[in-house]
Amino acid sequence: MLTVENIDVHRGKTHVLHQIDLHVGHGEIIALIGANGAGKTTTLKTISGLLRPTKGKILYTPEAGKAPIDISTMAPEQIVGAGISQCPEGRGVFAQLSVKENLLVGAYLRSDKEIEKDIQSVYEMFPILGERSTQAAGKLSGGQQMMLALGRSLMSQPKLLILDEPSLGLAPLIIETIFAMLQKINSQGVTILIVEQNAVMALDLSHRAYVLETGRVALSGLSSDLASNPQIQKSYLGVE
Ligand SMILES: Nc1ncnc2c1ncn2[C@@H]1O[C@H](COP(=O)(O)OP(=O)(O)OP(=O)(O)O)[C@@H](O)[C@H]1O
Ligand SMILES: [Mg+2]
Repeated sequence: MLTVENIDVHRGKTHVLHQIDLHVGHGEIIALIGANGAGKTTTLKTISGLLRPTKGKILYTPEAGKAPIDISTMAPEQIVGAGISQCPEGRGVFAQLSVKENLLVGAYLRSDKEIEKDIQSVYEMFPILGERSTQAAGKLSGGQQMMLALGRSLMSQPKLLILDEPSLGLAPLIIETIFAMLQKINSQGVTILIVEQNAVMALDLSHRAYVLETGRVALSGLSSDLASNPQIQKSYLGVE
């Protein structure tokens, strides 16, 4: 579905990503883990078109069997329109807008008649959002804002959902709820690429994972294999 091919990315004068190769298959959950500053957010922003690779390309195949398109030169809204939606680091909900207005922002490229129905589906997924639909998003708790950010991403009807650190700053119980929902969203056919500092949860959720170290892919494989790899356990899973 998505092949990141040998990309380099610079931010200002800093050469941040070096020859990154990633592959995301249709229906997979792929985790990207790594220390602070490893280049995880940079990788996601490049896929979303917010940053440009200085080398390499990003091929996207919305439906299996179709010809891939190179999205590395496409505008961010075209990439959203093609079916890739990113739930950003720090959630980025519009504090002054109501819950429902935030969800409508997620549907801004759509003109079909299913928008209201999809809003109701988000409320079914997270009933608290339905109860608070007219309240300003800024009044929600951190966990509720994360649910809203996730719901807003779903409103563009993505084929590939990208999440940057959804667990950041949230209580364990809320994280469980969000991760259970991600599993459910995936089982309904949405492919997921997730960046997480919480490597234990990320490896538990995902089928495969990539480990980034200082802008390079240091290791990749089945998440279950990585979770039992002593080097990963020591560096990322807190096992002595
Ligand atoms: N706007 C920017 N301008 C220049 N350099 C940047 C910018 N943002 C990030 N960087 C640098 O790019 C590198 C990778 O940053 P990035 O945010 O992608 O890492 P990350 O893996 O997402 O880290 P974190 O876990 O802290 O979110 C870091 O060395 C960082 O200092
Ligand atoms: Mg980051």
